[in-house]
Amino acid sequence: GRVILAYSGGLDTSCILVWLLEQGYEVVAFLADVGQDENFEEAKKKAQKLGAIKMVVPDVRKEFVEEFIWPSIQANGVYEDRYPMGTALARPCIARAMIKVAKEEGAKYISHGATGKGNDQIRFELSAYALHSGIEVISPWRLPEFYNRFAGRNDLFQYAKEKGIPLPVTPKSPWSMDANLMHISYESGILEDPMTQAPEDLYQMTTDPLTAPDKPTILDIEFKNGTPVSVYNHEDKTKKTDALDLFLHCNEIGGKNGIGRIDIVENRFIGMKSRGIYETPGGEILLAAHIDLEVFTLDREVRKIKRDLDAKFAEQVYRGFWFSPECEFTRDCISSSQKYVDGTVTLKIYKGHVYILGRKSPYSLYNEELVSMNVQGDYDPIDAGGFIKINALRLREYQRLRTESDKQ
Ligand code: ARG
Ligand code: SIN
Repeated sequence: GRVILAYSGGLDTSCILVWLLEQGYEVVAFLADVGQDENFEEAKKKAQKLGAIKMVVPDVRKEFVEEFIWPSIQANGVYEDRYPMGTALARPCIARAMIKVAKEEGAKYISHGATGKGNDQIRFELSAYALHSGIEVISPWRLPEFYNRFAGRNDLFQYAKEKGIPLPVTPKSPWSMDANLMHISYESGILEDPMTQAPEDLYQMTTDPLTAPDKPTILDIEFKNGTPVSVYNHEDKTKKTDALDLFLHCNEIGGKNGIGRIDIVENRFIGMKSRGIYETPGGEILLAAHIDLEVFTLDREVRKIKRDLDAKFAEQVYRGFWFSPECEFTRDCISSSQKYVDGTVTLKIYKGHVYILGRKSPYSLYNEELVSMNVQGDYDPIDAGGFIKINALRLREYQRLRTESDKQ
């Protein structure tokens, strides 16, 4: 049968490619361009040299930004209060492109190099089954005949030597990475000890805030329906309006000012805790701007309900349920809450921090006259006295009854 293999060009998936051929499969290699820094041509040559029928490299960067990152910005998407989900958002996008290729190629199988311990296997496979119920998944790292043969990296090296698989020219870093235009994640290897600090040369998207420019960068970020529509840079006076362009511009500014580094321990869906380091420069800027505009334009009680939905969204996405009825519903609700989240937030990006300088919106619920300390507005302060007294009723009763009849 024919199998679409998610191929990176690295040692693991190269060995998997050759191993699949050995098992009698026809292999179509697949590598989605989600904005990672990658030599796609090299990977293509390598896959073909190893015996793949062909290699497909779709550019899904724009749909990744518009259909996956934007909904997550609307949802202030962060998992466990800190992780902006760069990997979790890319997986359904990649899986969708892969399933499209599987259908075009008449392939019955897909395969990937995710381990049997992680989140990515779940995300890939749930998305694949949801979009193509007849698809079959070959997950080598969960097959005894594979993982018993390749118990450690040395076995992979040995196999590569035997099979004439060219070894990566760049020596592998002592941790595992996943990169796309939203973020790079670093896990495992020396980082498995949660107390081991990341060496400064680990970071590839961001400058150390210590050596970041002494001059801040000021940005105006404009939103429509909670979605970024333009970024204006006060320094170089450029304005970006294309989704991909403006995201990449935020990355550039965030990157050189050291924005969006985190070092966390998180709870994987499978059950274990894992330690990860992430850099999400542009994402962090856009999240900060969106959160600010939301408070400005959303009713207080609607916002409170939405915060619960945001948490649901993050968990659903992290756990691989992008293509599920519940996540579709969550996204619909969140999207409908964004009807009036239009406006512009001005931010100062400086040495690892995003400072909000101001905001404006045609639909803000902010009433300057109502809140002012200098004018009365349509408001009678006498009412506040009654409001406080009624709220105090319960507190007084509680104290009175508890002091008069306390348990002995
Ligand atoms: N822990 C993060 C997540 O679950 C990052 C996973 C990185 N994946 C990888 N194949 N290196 O989203
Ligand atoms: C992997 O296990 O392949 C990477 C980490 C993860 O998926 O959580």
